[in-house]
Amino acid sequence: MKKFVDLDTQRMNLQVFLDAKKNLLERNKLGQFATPSQLARDIVEETLKFLDQKKIKLLEPSVGTGSFILNLLDNLPADLEVEKIIGVEKDPLYGEASKEFYENTQIDLSYVISDFTQLEPFEKVNLILANPPYIRHHYIPNKFDLVDKVLDRTGIKVSGLSGMYIYFILLSHAWLEENGVACWLIPSEFLDVNYGKKLREYLLNDVTTLKIHRFDTANSKFSDALVSSTIIWYKKSIPPKNHQINFTFGERIANPEVSKRLGYDDLLKESKWSRFPQNEVRTDNDEPRLKDYFRISRGIATGENTFFILNKEEIIKKNLPFDQFRPILPRPLHLESLNIQSDRLGYPSLKKQLFVLNTLLDIEDIERKYPSLYIYLQEGIEKGVDQRHLCKSRKSWYFQEQKKTSKFYCSYIGRAKDSGKSPFKFILNESQAIVNNSYLILYPLPSLNNILEEKPQLASKIINSLNNLDSSFMTDEGRVYGGGMQKIEPTELGNVNASMIARIIENEV
Ligand SMILES: C[S@@+](CC[C@H](N)C(=O)[O-])C[C@H]1O[C@@H](n2cnc3c(N)ncnc32)[C@H](O)[C@@H]1O
Repeated sequence: MKKFVDLDTQRMNLQVFLDAKKNLLERNKLGQFATPSQLARDIVEETLKFLDQKKIKLLEPSVGTGSFILNLLDNLPADLEVEKIIGVEKDPLYGEASKEFYENTQIDLSYVISDFTQLEPFEKVNLILANPPYIRHHYIPNKFDLVDKVLDRTGIKVSGLSGMYIYFILLSHAWLEENGVACWLIPSEFLDVNYGKKLREYLLNDVTTLKIHRFDTANSKFSDALVSSTIIWYKKSIPPKNHQINFTFGERIANPEVSKRLGYDDLLKESKWSRFPQNEVRTDNDEPRLKDYFRISRGIATGENTFFILNKEEIIKKNLPFDQFRPILPRPLHLESLNIQSDRLGYPSLKKQLFVLNTLLDIEDIERKYPSLYIYLQEGIEKGVDQRHLCKSRKSWYFQEQKKTSKFYCSYIGRAKDSGKSPFKFILNESQAIVNNSYLILYPLPSLNNILEEKPQLASKIINSLNNLDSSFMTDEGRVYGGGMQKIEPTELGNVNASMIARIIENEV
């Protein structure tokens, strides 16, 4: 009999009531996205399979209104007993209301209103169930104190780019009894990004990781947080020799669509764990990478596109000097073709030509030589553009990065396609247009540049081969966000296999 169903409904009503008291930015700052009850239930059911203990001592370090607690109590097999429940919540708004809520029930919950990362372990537990706050490092004001604290408590030096959940997991080590079980619902990014490495090492070396389940990102569990989620289960014990971790993927935790067991050696070598369980272990090979042919860099960050980027008609209307601007491609979404031809002035042959301010003159010279541009810049000051973070950091607030144009650009954010084609697009640019930071720029290294100077027709062959790459070549290196959004960073793009470029060159030279 489900005893707590009604109570869980009341709890969810309380959650809605409390969420409504905050705006999205405030909730983002504290990672306040409640764990959906059905998800908490599925997680509890799976976790119970790993538990040897008969008397549960539970810690929920980011308890909120306590979705895991009610779902655990409701799914407890007859031979298990809950001896102790500790819930920690930092935000008094959620804390006070939830504490009162539980005081009016039969549930004996030690509800502590405190920052979990500042709390000394006052009691050991044998079960941790948590959906810690997803707070990015920008919003963790004391992140360096936390880095030091984790180092002091665990000997692990994490990166300052770590999200809050990494500190939660590592600091909870001291709370867990030997052989205790922990289950964390966390963002998937740690599987791939550099700052996730320390957590991956922890899961390989310091605990016995039992299972890592990744949800299908196209169906994010949290519509309002837009984060793709992974669940990890581990036991606090040194992993036995030849231990394997069960990687699973799909909508249902208990009944995954794909699963694969992987051992220590394979996981230690692989820096992108999100390739599992769908893909095989990568074999090391000496095949060339894009970084062997290109230096890869981001497009320019203007600081305020709407102010610094203007179309031809606007420049004419405002009587601004064309020679103080340079052509720039529109965002990838608005690009008419992947092959950008040039007109006789070096401008891209596009219906709508855009230009970015590109002056190197100081303001006195501008006032003297180009009064209309001077007036335009004054308008920018009135709008506060000079106070934008990036603009403030420049020698003159309106100066733009002086990056060279290239024939090779890449749109590095995209959605996976059913066609199996890569979500990222390569653009052959024959014009003098630069790109903004919604693109990556690929500058040919001297060895490739020399070949291209001799045989310029190779550029379009290279672009075509890159656009026809099987999507796995690119997505293996990139990273996946909620809603199926994929992204590839400069160093990751550099690691993409480039054997097709080697073949093109071989055939031609
Ligand atoms: C993703 S929610 C999970 C909520 C909970 N599992 C539930 O039943 O809905 C994360 C919770 O952690 C809380 N939180 C944020 N920072 C915290 C901290 N440093 N210590 C403890 N709790 C924190 C948030 O206020 C939020 O309630």
